[in-house]
Amino acid sequence: MTTYVPPTRNQSPYLPFGDQRNAQFYGKDILSVNQFNRDDLEYIFGVAKEMREMVTRIGTFDLLKGKILANLFYEPSTRTSSSFTSAMERLGGSVIPINEVRYSSVSKGESLPDTVRTLECYADVIVIRHPESGSAALAAKYARKPIINAGDGVGEHPTQALLDLFTIVSELGNVDGLTVTMLGDLKYGRTVHSLARLLSQFIVKINYVSPEILRMPSEIIAELKEKGVSQSEYNTLDAVLPKTDVLYVTRVQKERFENQEEYESVKGAYVITPEVMEQAKDKMIVMHPLPRVGEISMEMDDDPRAAYFRQMEYGLYVRMALLAMVLGKA
Ligand code: NCD
Repeated sequence: MTTYVPPTRNQSPYLPFGDQRNAQFYGKDILSVNQFNRDDLEYIFGVAKEMREMVTRIGTFDLLKGKILANLFYEPSTRTSSSFTSAMERLGGSVIPINEVRYSSVSKGESLPDTVRTLECYADVIVIRHPESGSAALAAKYARKPIINAGDGVGEHPTQALLDLFTIVSELGNVDGLTVTMLGDLKYGRTVHSLARLLSQFIVKINYVSPEILRMPSEIIAELKEKGVSQSEYNTLDAVLPKTDVLYVTRVQKERFENQEEYESVKGAYVITPEVMEQAKDKMIVMHPLPRVGEISMEMDDDPRAAYFRQMEYGLYVRMALLAMVLGKA
């Protein structure tokens, strides 16, 4: 009689022995972009392309049939929450949505570790968004099931950065050699914190354009400098726009300001309009993680360079890929 040995966190029960390439994400948390190297990115994007093909051909299929995702959101979300739901359901799985922690036991004072230990009794993977930096890592410390960070305060938003990079690769064909200009709230915007780190694996030039009080944190600039990334900071866009291949616009993160007067002083600092875009290349893209609150005018939406709506769709395929990978089915 052979004794049953349950699979460990990193050993997929669905893949043949020795197929480590495919199994290496099985059971893993996704907490920071720093956990991925270029080979991993290539692999994730390969799976995302397959997901796109499958969705285009058949819409929904049974790869994650019987699997359950807990979507735990302590902060507002439209795209991240619904794209994870759509990703799970397109893969045949189902979702426990906790979008309003107000109505859960969190409002009774339950701690994050206890909430996570509860949800993992019912779900196979937990997606978490929380206002505190480091919260996803804290959840992962207590959870036996994979935790996916969907934004931890001003910390990171790794799945957004992965979909941002997938957008760049899909739209422009490559990453090496590009000039990426990040515009807006670089201090509180977690999407740019993750994207800058992810881009540091490539040969890129990064321009940071922001009001003085919203500059990219010096630790991140130092981290990228160590990796040899060419970075420059500006207060205005004019000088860098003509050389930009990817203009990544962000919202000023009102909810993170301690002083609302400070917010008022910077909220309308930059607005991308068709007139502004006359200075930009013909072959370049404008991205935004959304929601936008005035920093890209609606007149821009018909410009073929406006990639922000396409970016959301790329996000679905990347999140499908990540779910399949951490659940050992990619
Ligand atoms: C971003 C976020 O939550 O950090 N939104 C998103 O996930 N697409 C950006 C933002 O809120 O400004």
